[in-house]
Amino acid sequence: MCGIVAYIGYRQAYPVIIKGLKRLEYRGYDSAGVALLNHGIKLYKKKGKVAALEEITIGKDLDGSIGIGHTRWATHGEPSDRNAHPHLSANGKLAMIHNGIIENYAALRHELIKKGYVFHSDTDTEVLLNFIEDIQKNNESTLEEALRIALKRIVGAYVIVLIDKDDPDTLIAARKGSPLVIGIGKGEHFLASDASPIIEYTKEVVYVNDYQIAIIKADELILKNLGNERQTPFIQKLDLELAAIEKGGYDHFMLKEIYEQPHTIYDCLRGRLDVSEGTITMSGIQNNIDLIKNANRILIIACGTSWHAGLIAEYVIEELCRIPVEVEYASEFRYRNPVVHKGDMIIAISQSGETADTLVAIERAKEQGAVILGIVNVVGSSIARISHAGAYTHAGPEIGVASTKAFTAQLTVLAMVALKIAKERETITNERYLHLINELNEVPEKVKQILDGADYIKDIAAKYKDVPNALYLGRGYNFPVALEGALKLKEISYIHAEGYPAAEMKHGPIALVDENLPVIFVATKDTYHEKIVSNIQEIKARKGKVIAVITEGDETIKGMADDIMPIPEADELIAPILSVIPLQLLSYYIGIAKEYDVDKPRNLAKSVTVE
Ligand code: M6R
Repeated sequence: MCGIVAYIGYRQAYPVIIKGLKRLEYRGYDSAGVALLNHGIKLYKKKGKVAALEEITIGKDLDGSIGIGHTRWATHGEPSDRNAHPHLSANGKLAMIHNGIIENYAALRHELIKKGYVFHSDTDTEVLLNFIEDIQKNNESTLEEALRIALKRIVGAYVIVLIDKDDPDTLIAARKGSPLVIGIGKGEHFLASDASPIIEYTKEVVYVNDYQIAIIKADELILKNLGNERQTPFIQKLDLELAAIEKGGYDHFMLKEIYEQPHTIYDCLRGRLDVSEGTITMSGIQNNIDLIKNANRILIIACGTSWHAGLIAEYVIEELCRIPVEVEYASEFRYRNPVVHKGDMIIAISQSGETADTLVAIERAKEQGAVILGIVNVVGSSIARISHAGAYTHAGPEIGVASTKAFTAQLTVLAMVALKIAKERETITNERYLHLINELNEVPEKVKQILDGADYIKDIAAKYKDVPNALYLGRGYNFPVALEGALKLKEISYIHAEGYPAAEMKHGPIALVDENLPVIFVATKDTYHEKIVSNIQEIKARKGKVIAVITEGDETIKGMADDIMPIPEADELIAPILSVIPLQLLSYYIGIAKEYDVDKPRNLAKSVTVE
């Protein structure tokens, strides 16, 4: 939530910041702003996307080689020019950008108002900034000292970056709970919420840790902890190419990412799955195999689409490994008083690796002695770093706000993890193990087949684009796919959609069915096929419209459904990786038909770093 970019060096800061903000717009896009330091602070901010900010800066003085920029996802205060970042402190000397939430801002604001401070925005950011200014004034301290004192008093999560009119050669940044990457150039430094604004300038980066303060000059980076002790920056090499974060000829990132899936799933399997040897190599799992295979219970913790991947993993792990699995929303888990035993294993699933709820939930579980296995996409992200062990999903940067390729990569990794544990625990026959390895190996090619023949989905989208509601139903492994299909439709087309286990329909949702309600069945050939055929009949008997994801050649459902979306035959454990693809495309094409911004749906942000 919220993207931050800052620059200090020999270049003009403005173009670097604007380009970076556009790359980070997926993190929030309701207002944007920039502050440049050059004989005083020049501040420009505007409600709307970064393009709106660019428009208001035409013809303005944009000179300066030190600056901070922000693209916002509103938490405190509506999206507006005055709530946009950067904010200026009361004396006009400091400007600050912030990603996160200051939870005790109301008390601090009250305190500052009593001292005569006047606020020009509704944000917690302006409160923190004036709090820092106030400490600096009262203690006659440096900005760095004032910041240290302030950070010890605030509750919440933050990445902040400050510029100071009186110290025009320095940027000061601090982090707790939200991500901050510093790119190290020759005589220049780049700061950003992720590496995408940085990669074209340098591949050397430092990931700032919680409770660290960075004092950055063009040719110097100093890291300190809140106790004012210097810490050695750990410089890492970025393994990311510019092409991976560009649209590459596609109209939207979402479409590009859907079409990348044959490759991303292949990348996920590559070097791990060896069909000829019948092996799965995952060092993060292997190195901790005794802990993992002897877990009394597995708790899967995630949010949104990653939570849906967790539900599918629950079915797969229980089936193959015979270990009890529970799947938890991270946001619920972190606030209740869950029972976690020493022998429990937590699987945390996250594309971004920065989701605040997931991060805090696993910290809680870790405190109680659980072993954390992170299934994460973004290399070096917070969840990856605090996990005991893990496996990256290798899907590459996912920029479209709606998760697509990250989901299928998560399912692929989770299937491999389950197979590996099952083999170690000897809860799977060799024949079934080899069969599933083969099935996984064939997934990239099958996904390609679905995508190559998917143009017809545009016509289905055109037919249903104006419906107000939709119901998604599935059974067994395909029930979470129904949930994911409904989530995709909601996010991209703003159509109200609900996912249900198909058998639950008669316990309530069937009351919704009439000739206007499209019911999307995920009804591939599996153990539940006959049952779901009956469910389809029940919908048809009430004149509902049926759109069905089916296995190619399934004449039974083809004869009953109004529209079909066929996928190649696959083992039922693996089928969700395929059956979700037509649902991703259906949502995409409906969103496009409704002329919505599918890459940046309203009110959403890609990386939910606030709770
Ligand atoms: O980065 P994470 O996987 O932890 O994100 C979790 C959810 O915020 C995310 O899946 C969200 O639901 C997406 N918008 C789904 O498309």
